[in-house]
Amino acid sequence: MTIRILAVEDDIGDFKTLKRTLLSCGLPTETDHAVDMLAALEYLEKKQYDIIFLDFGLPLMNGLHALSELTLIEPPTPIVMVTGQGDETLARKALKSGASDYIPKREVTSETLRRTIDHVLEMTVLQRKLEEQQRSLESFAYVLAHDLKTPINQTRLIGEMLSDAIKSKDYSEAENLSNFLVESTQRMDDLISVLSSYNQAQSEDVVFQTFTLSTAVSDAMKNLDSELQKRGAKVTFAKDLPVITASPPMITQLLQNLIGNGIKYCDAALPRVHVFAEADQDGVNVMVQDNGIGIAEEDSLKVFQPFQRLRAASKFEGTGLGLATCQAIIQRHEGRIWVTSKPGEGSIFSFWLPRHSTEKTA
Ligand SMILES: Nc1ncnc2c1ncn2[C@@H]1O[C@H](COP(=O)(O)OP(=O)(O)OP(=O)(O)O)[C@@H](O)[C@H]1O
Ligand SMILES: [Mg+2]
Repeated sequence: MTIRILAVEDDIGDFKTLKRTLLSCGLPTETDHAVDMLAALEYLEKKQYDIIFLDFGLPLMNGLHALSELTLIEPPTPIVMVTGQGDETLARKALKSGASDYIPKREVTSETLRRTIDHVLEMTVLQRKLEEQQRSLESFAYVLAHDLKTPINQTRLIGEMLSDAIKSKDYSEAENLSNFLVESTQRMDDLISVLSSYNQAQSEDVVFQTFTLSTAVSDAMKNLDSELQKRGAKVTFAKDLPVITASPPMITQLLQNLIGNGIKYCDAALPRVHVFAEADQDGVNVMVQDNGIGIAEEDSLKVFQPFQRLRAASKFEGTGLGLATCQAIIQRHEGRIWVTSKPGEGSIFSFWLPRHSTEKTA
């Protein structure tokens, strides 16, 4: 991948040195040159960059001012200040004001540039991860505040009604109400389990083991036993499912969510799910096919985002975290997950897992 760089530098000689050094530092870079802030803003309007190298001593605008203008632009681009002699104190100020790093002009060598670029790109990846975690934390707080509130309020109300029924000695009503109470706490328990597996998929260490995929399918089916019986659903899998190297509990959770969805989002009298796989040179493709209500093409990416539920699914209970959990599990395995489907004709959820390094050498 080419690293797109914008150099904001008024001195042609200094720009040429920077560009030459960038070319010799062994990284695939592509550099545009803006002689002042006006030109820089024009470039940034047209194109997205991975790093901006900003000269501290631009004419008409001091380095810190230029930096504060550039940090306002969306999407944010990491900025490396290029400082002249004696600018070190200012450079430290720049770091506090949002610069990702600084490099003194006299130290511009292929070695230092490479180190700076690696460091800035690494920080950007971490920053994005942090922002994503922040977003997911906010969604978590939202679900806890809203989705848990409903069953909690319901439980309180049923408790009050139960107490009235006991006072008036209406024991058959009391029995009904205590059943509702159990259902309502079950809903809270389900919600907490879904939230906790989403959390685990994102944060727990992936411990790789070699196992047959059919074991994970069988474990997922065992975990879904009561749902399968309730719906009278039939789950089958191909005899030749491969041996894979991955995290067994995560792959079981993934299959459980996909198979669970397959039987839940189904209007057919006999919900059916079939799991099969195909190995390719670099890994293995696993398919989970159902005869359910299907998904429109325009929704096929949306369903993997947290808390996204489709209108067609409103009559079925759910939180909208199952597929986001699958996505997180697959990302932790450096694979891919997608769906092909047509409304009314069932869906095939597929995931691809790369061959693990231990399998490659085996
Ligand atoms: N096999 C499927 N067939 C049709 N629609 C599906 C299928 N799987 C998922 N969907 C749609 O994608 C949405 C997101 O699925 P996801 O599993 O993430 O959440 P959920 O099932 O609603 O809740 P949860 O799994 O957290 O209990 C569902 O609400 C449904 O609209
Ligand atoms: Mg689900």
